[in-house]
Amino acid sequence: MQVDVLLGLQWGDEGKGKIVDYLANDYEVVARFQGGPNAGHTLVINGEKHVLHTIPSGIFLDRPLNLIGNGVVIDPSTLSKELDQVIAAGVHVKEKLFVANKAHLILPTHKILDAASEAAKGKGKIGSTLRGIGPTYMDKTGRNGLRVGDIFLADFKQRYQKLKEKHLRLLTIYDFEFDLEALESQWFEGVERLRSLNVVSGEYFINEVLDQGGNVLAEGAQGTMLDIEHGTYPYVTSSHTTSTGVCGGLGVAPTKINEVIGIFKAYTTRVGSGPFPTELFDDVGAEIAKVGHEFGATTGRPRRCGWLDMPILNYAIMLNGVTQLAITKSDVLDDFDEIKVATTYQVNGLETDTVPYDLTGYDITPNYTSFDGWKQNFGACTSFNDIPENLAKYIAFIEESAQTPINYLSSGPGREELIDISVR
Ligand code: GDP
Ligand code: IMO
Ligand code: MG
Repeated sequence: MQVDVLLGLQWGDEGKGKIVDYLANDYEVVARFQGGPNAGHTLVINGEKHVLHTIPSGIFLDRPLNLIGNGVVIDPSTLSKELDQVIAAGVHVKEKLFVANKAHLILPTHKILDAASEAAKGKGKIGSTLRGIGPTYMDKTGRNGLRVGDIFLADFKQRYQKLKEKHLRLLTIYDFEFDLEALESQWFEGVERLRSLNVVSGEYFINEVLDQGGNVLAEGAQGTMLDIEHGTYPYVTSSHTTSTGVCGGLGVAPTKINEVIGIFKAYTTRVGSGPFPTELFDDVGAEIAKVGHEFGATTGRPRRCGWLDMPILNYAIMLNGVTQLAITKSDVLDDFDEIKVATTYQVNGLETDTVPYDLTGYDITPNYTSFDGWKQNFGACTSFNDIPENLAKYIAFIEESAQTPINYLSSGPGREELIDISVR
């Protein structure tokens, strides 16, 4: 049948995990297609919080199988801890989880290289999650990487040793101290664990499901503005976070893609370095961070906060071919008197609604439209007609600018806290 895509339209942490968990019982498979344990997808089920890094967010549901696709990079140590967590929550991983044999492995030395490279960049650092993502994708495109399928080869240890030695030679250019031994023993335990999972040919796995009439939900990680190709380079991650990444990262043809569901927060956040035109440095920004509990799900770092940015949102909708939207965290703004949205930018004195080259090196001032707050909790609403008038105005304004319907309005972190507003 078809592949629907669900992905983030900002700088990550839009609430993808929550929306996948809400929607995915309608699918045979949920598949991650890129990224790795830099992701932190939070699900709150019956009041209990689960944070997933590599395992797809359909894992707690009855129906879907879950595939870690070939475009993902896997750290066996992190995956092993995640497996412990989901097993403790009652998941039968042997029945529910599948791993593509072409997914690349994050080695302990990839993580060390990530940390050494960031330290050497000083003030210009990317703000990487230090999970080894960049160095692993570098080895993939450099054709040096190790893949999940390699762990079954008789000479896996030698292959590992060869790549590790290359990394150790690279590390001599940095003045960086590290302790590899402890990381290595954990890693090999993780590799043993990985051997016990369902390792499959991801391409055949997905296409057989589609051929048999099943639907697949492709779960994005990070966000459009962190895409290696179209994001705020170099302050991006190392994978294709946009819908183009789905075909390569799962082995499905573009003709199989149907709906593209774009997730965005009612405001904007960013964690790590890099440009952020609507960032707030005042009490309002601090209030959003406080009420929204804006701390990274993977690193715990405070997230930078600012108003919603329509040039960015519209750019992301264009790139991904978004067919429907989901808005999260509007409830964080429940008590705000005034809510702003950037509609255009003044770039070096000229007004534009397009996103400039890399957003750095320009004098950018957002032009804002102001809205009166709705000043009430809307969690008990069940349809678009129920929601506060000022929230409806806010939503209608975004839809008009985006030329795309908002079908889902999230009203809190919990699984049930979501209003289907597609029917008007
Ligand atoms: P992801 O990486 O896109 O899956 O998002 P994260 O899990 O990193 O960050 C989203 C955070 O917001 C998590 O703590 C979620 O539990 C929470 N969240 C998701 N949707 C909502 C919402 O509508 N309202 C509130 N208040 N929290 C939400
Ligand atoms: P989810 O899937 C938010 C950011 C990092 C850094 C940059 C590069 O939870 O939305 P990397 O470790 O990939 O080399 O870091 O990208 N970043 C994320 N920010 N959410 C994420 O994932 C992120 N994954 C990476 O903070 O700025
Ligand atoms: Mg996250």
